[in-house]
Amino acid sequence: MSTTSEGATAQPEQERRRGGFSSRRVFILAAIGSAVGLGNIWRFPYVAYENGGGAFVLPYLVALLTAGIPFLLLDYAIGHRHRGSAPLSFARLRRGAEGLGWWQVGICFLIAIYYAAVIAWALRYTFFSLDQAWGADPEGFFFGEFLQAGDVQVTADVVPGVLVPLVLVWLAVLVIMALGVQRGIGATSLVFIPVLVLAFAALVVQALLLPGAGAGLDALFTPDWSALTSASVWAAAFGQIFFSLSVGFGIMITYASYVGRREDMVGSGLVVGFANSGFELLAGIGVFAALGFMAQANGVAVDEVASDGIGLAFVAFPAIISEAPAGALLGVLFFGCLVIAGITSLVSVIEVVISAVRDKFDTSRLTATLAVGVPAAVLSLVLFSTTSGIYVLDVVDHFVNQYGILVVALVSMLAVSWALRALTGLGDHLNVHGRPRVGTGWRLLTSVVAPAALAVVLVLALRDDLATAYEDYPSWLLLVFGWALVVALPLVGFLVARLPWRAGTHLDGPPPGSDPATPLGATTTGHDEGGTR
Ligand code: ALA
Repeated sequence: MSTTSEGATAQPEQERRRGGFSSRRVFILAAIGSAVGLGNIWRFPYVAYENGGGAFVLPYLVALLTAGIPFLLLDYAIGHRHRGSAPLSFARLRRGAEGLGWWQVGICFLIAIYYAAVIAWALRYTFFSLDQAWGADPEGFFFGEFLQAGDVQVTADVVPGVLVPLVLVWLAVLVIMALGVQRGIGATSLVFIPVLVLAFAALVVQALLLPGAGAGLDALFTPDWSALTSASVWAAAFGQIFFSLSVGFGIMITYASYVGRREDMVGSGLVVGFANSGFELLAGIGVFAALGFMAQANGVAVDEVASDGIGLAFVAFPAIISEAPAGALLGVLFFGCLVIAGITSLVSVIEVVISAVRDKFDTSRLTATLAVGVPAAVLSLVLFSTTSGIYVLDVVDHFVNQYGILVVALVSMLAVSWALRALTGLGDHLNVHGRPRVGTGWRLLTSVVAPAALAVVLVLALRDDLATAYEDYPSWLLLVFGWALVVALPLVGFLVARLPWRAGTHLDGPPPGSDPATPLGATTTGHDEGGTR
């Protein structure tokens, strides 16, 4: 089924049924909600700290400007011009490219099932904060009493304390998804993003008022300039930018396909990119101010209280909450922010899958939500509410981030730039309604600079993973939940791409009305698909 007169007339109706955001403002809030997530609040502060502190800001900004924002605009251009989920947009770019979209869908499915588990932990810890349930030993409590993590092995021993909040997280997410793009995702963002900004601002102010906060900020911002000569610091900066901006794995393609045809996507991209980085910086300030307080209270250096990602949020922060004045408030703000930021990102991750299923098969919003959400929730519960959940989560997170997101990002950039030669058309599309205009600089960054940087990042990461087993985990665990998954994702992606599209789907090029020569006249997409077709 390619471009037929039937396809052409069916298109606006099909697009109306897909749904969309009611305005650019709602889209920008939803995109910020997607970008600002667990990656900003617990990942950025420790990545920055481990990679040169203040000096990390330079590689971070270089990565943001040379790769993050250019690639964000590429995602926007693909989705906005081709008006489909990742597989549909790639299929419209070139039929053979559809598998790239399904590869991204697979990555999102995997991310969703473990991302929900971390939100469930944060939900539980929001309540633990009220009476500091972790007592005098937050580390022992987190791994022992709370997660009941035993030996590194896969078990079916369910931990009720994780199971219950995880069920609640999935129920909330499924309700949002079933309500649709505007009434579900858009409305959630309209309410939660302002709440998140206010709660996080209150958290940062409270942290900055703690005694010793200055020492924490000194630790974060005192530059270790020698770090700039380390390739792995640059690698960390590029890795952080891609995960944090939600670029390269289908999210921004999907969201952009829900934006009115005449909206300015370049300006929107700049707002989203800088809002995400601003939030990230604020998170670094808040977390390190609190760590400075902790270090001063215990008479130790800040690096002795800072630890890696999961540890920072669920081990170091509870210790701070126990000692800080008004600690319960600090805890509720911190873990509450993690929950809100996590949910608004999780809905964007799972929407990539739901939208792809709806585009490819003839299903209603509700059917697609259940067809995707129920298996995702079941897998999430089976894998991550057991005593082995933390190990599986750690391995999946590491491999999906390094070799899932970054590899598909690199391959799709190269494919769009060099194999499909689509950059000029996509740039022209952005320039019709977008300002500032994108031109040679953007094409150079997207086709040469960002792919080269990503390739270096990947080689460095691969070198490390081949030299030493990640976190010294047993090789069977790394093989099953790491290497096997990342190899299977593209294979399954290109297999699914062989299934036929629903009848009447316009393929082979942007749908009618995407380019100014054939305007549809609509300034926004239909935005009320709700639970039915
Ligand atoms: N961009 C999301 C985050 O930072 C996925 O967590």
